[in-house]
Amino acid sequence: MKTVRLGIAGLGTVAQGVLDILASNQQLIATRSGIDLQVTRVASRTPKPDVNLAGAQFSTQLADLYADEQIDMVVELIGGEDVAYEFIQAALAAGKPVITANKAVIAAHGNTLLSHNAAPLRFEAAVAGAIPIIQAIQHGLVANRFEHVVGIINGTCNYILTAMQEQGAAFADALATAQELGYAEADPTFDIQGIDAAHKLAILLGLAFDSPFNFADIYIEGITEVTSADIQYADELGYHIKHLGLARLTDTGLEARVHPTLIPKSQLLASVNDVLNAVLVKSDAAGNTMYSGPGAGGAATASAVLSDVIGLACQLPQQDTPRSVDASAVRVLPIEDIRSAYYLRIPTKDEPGVFAQVANALSSHGISIEAAIQKEPRAGQDLVSIVILTQVVQEAEMAAAMTQVQSLPQVQGSIARIRVETLD
Ligand code: HSE
Repeated sequence: MKTVRLGIAGLGTVAQGVLDILASNQQLIATRSGIDLQVTRVASRTPKPDVNLAGAQFSTQLADLYADEQIDMVVELIGGEDVAYEFIQAALAAGKPVITANKAVIAAHGNTLLSHNAAPLRFEAAVAGAIPIIQAIQHGLVANRFEHVVGIINGTCNYILTAMQEQGAAFADALATAQELGYAEADPTFDIQGIDAAHKLAILLGLAFDSPFNFADIYIEGITEVTSADIQYADELGYHIKHLGLARLTDTGLEARVHPTLIPKSQLLASVNDVLNAVLVKSDAAGNTMYSGPGAGGAATASAVLSDVIGLACQLPQQDTPRSVDASAVRVLPIEDIRSAYYLRIPTKDEPGVFAQVANALSSHGISIEAAIQKEPRAGQDLVSIVILTQVVQEAEMAAAMTQVQSLPQVQGSIARIRVETLD
């Protein structure tokens, strides 16, 4: 039996999840892995006297963790970007293996952190909570070339969209519940504006396509503009609206985008609800594989943290080779160059000939209509909604068509535009 001593930085939901799992499953872990895991020190800038540290020493100085010669590896669960980045850098420089759940740090600084091998760095918990998606890409599918990695990778957004779809919940109420349940980031705008999903997509894309992590390459839309009306109209047309992260290799380059998306109800992803995440991977040898599970929450994320801890503990003292990337292998496409089908909701005056004018404007940009419905004014409103599903079109053409449609005198208010993916 090998004893491995852990230091934990941060004392939020995930750190508490790690302590809880060890409290209940320490013996099981020892039996399976031959590792006796001991948390010997916890450091947090904010003391939480109510948390049971099971005998671990407490410190408000994060540096105490990597200065402690008794500690074999450190777990970074501070959250945020700058302080966590500095901490990870310092711990690695001190020769401590680091396990982190911090997607913002890996997406922004992973290239630097993984470019030297002073000590190993693991980040399974940074993407899709409990799902071992990094293991799947780096190990299970290591012999494959990837065609796409597409998924629901923010639990908070999925929780909100599901509550709006299934219970008719208001956006703000659903977000408040997601925060109470410990799903949302400390600043929930990271979730609802799509930034958290973009951090995760940047990591998945880098791993699947052997490229540097580049958050700036990701096109980002959140879910704040998705209305109950859009969810209802999409439902009538046979779709659910999900917030997707999508990295897809095309003939001209890589699409890398996160945004709300209409998915046919027949697609498995369309029925992945609540806090669940799911990632579809298409690769040349394995074909389509799908991974699903809780994408947020203390226990689920702590499960992934401990998988890295035990994996590394079994390897020690072996050191990692630096991550090698091929920066010239792949080009992320500007959003104007991607191709997608669209859902459009166009608020117009109820006048004869409006639909024909909208159809003409679309047609003049080579955009074909797949399906259309006209909805009567909703209670208290005097505008009708023309709801259209288009065939696949280049984004730049759609943008030009929307400028033209928006300028029609009968069109009142903003047009809702959501991409559609059949994921075939
Ligand atoms: N706020 C994140 C989410 C937590 O909702 O998915 C897990 O990364």
